[in-house]
Amino acid sequence: MDTVTDTATAIRVRPSGAALGADIEGLDMNQPISPEQVKEIVHAWEQHLVLRFRGQTSLTVEGLAAFSRHLGALDKRPTASGGMSSAHDALPPEITVISNVKVEGKPLGALGDGEAVWHADMTYNERPPKGAALYAVEVPPSGGNTHFASMYLAYETLDGDLKQRIEGLRCIHDASRNSAGELRLGFSDHTDPRQTVGATHPLVATHASTGRRCLLLGRRRNAYIVGLPLDESEAILDRLWAHAANPALTWTQVWQVGDVMLWDNSCTMHRRDSFDPATRRLMYRTQIAGRVAP
Ligand code: OGA
Ligand code: MN
Repeated sequence: MDTVTDTATAIRVRPSGAALGADIEGLDMNQPISPEQVKEIVHAWEQHLVLRFRGQTSLTVEGLAAFSRHLGALDKRPTASGGMSSAHDALPPEITVISNVKVEGKPLGALGDGEAVWHADMTYNERPPKGAALYAVEVPPSGGNTHFASMYLAYETLDGDLKQRIEGLRCIHDASRNSAGELRLGFSDHTDPRQTVGATHPLVATHASTGRRCLLLGRRRNAYIVGLPLDESEAILDRLWAHAANPALTWTQVWQVGDVMLWDNSCTMHRRDSFDPATRRLMYRTQIAGRVAP
């Protein structure tokens, strides 16, 4: 692992010292970024999995989208579910609002103020996004921290018997509820994991860029290991999740206004703490599209 990297383009990479995560210093996202700087950021991203860019206080949503586009094609935000404020309409189509703020009684964005349980984004799709960038515009005085976990380390530090047991097994990732526990439009509720609707992925995945192997868990709720008796699937998943959520594999982001967090969605998971509903949290987010199958 590198420590502090000084280069001609003056980007500095400051590793968190935890299992993953690094600060990138010396970059103003409102300024054009050179191909060399993009290469350095991509390299740091592959090495540290989650990058934090502090002090981007004057960044615009257009600037966030332009920066994110250097890392891949951007997904358009999903159509807002019923009851959401139409404030999204004025934003570029690649920007999603993550917020508990309400305008005229309607939420301005997604995820509210409750806890968002451990998850990777949209793994219930065949081709989950490669990553996401989340930009803090308003931050509550306490709570709302975001925790990240390395799924490379989770795989590498698994007990040998479990590592062998899950080799070649596939898991169904539930599409019915989001990480805040809300039922998605068009889905019906169920509690039998064998009836789960969503994409199926190997429990051990190979990262498309680095070729390293990682655990691919997605989310715990309604997960089911294809072909196993339910109790065996539950027992294996419980062991995997207890291991993957081990604090030794994680790094916690305590937000400041102007922070941009960039996470690799293939080899990390994240979770968000709840916060006081009487306080405001407002973030803008881009999502970098997953790879098209070769
Ligand atoms: C997300 C997400 C966490 C947060 O945007 O996918 O999980 O800290 N956000 O708001
Ligand atoms: Mn998420």
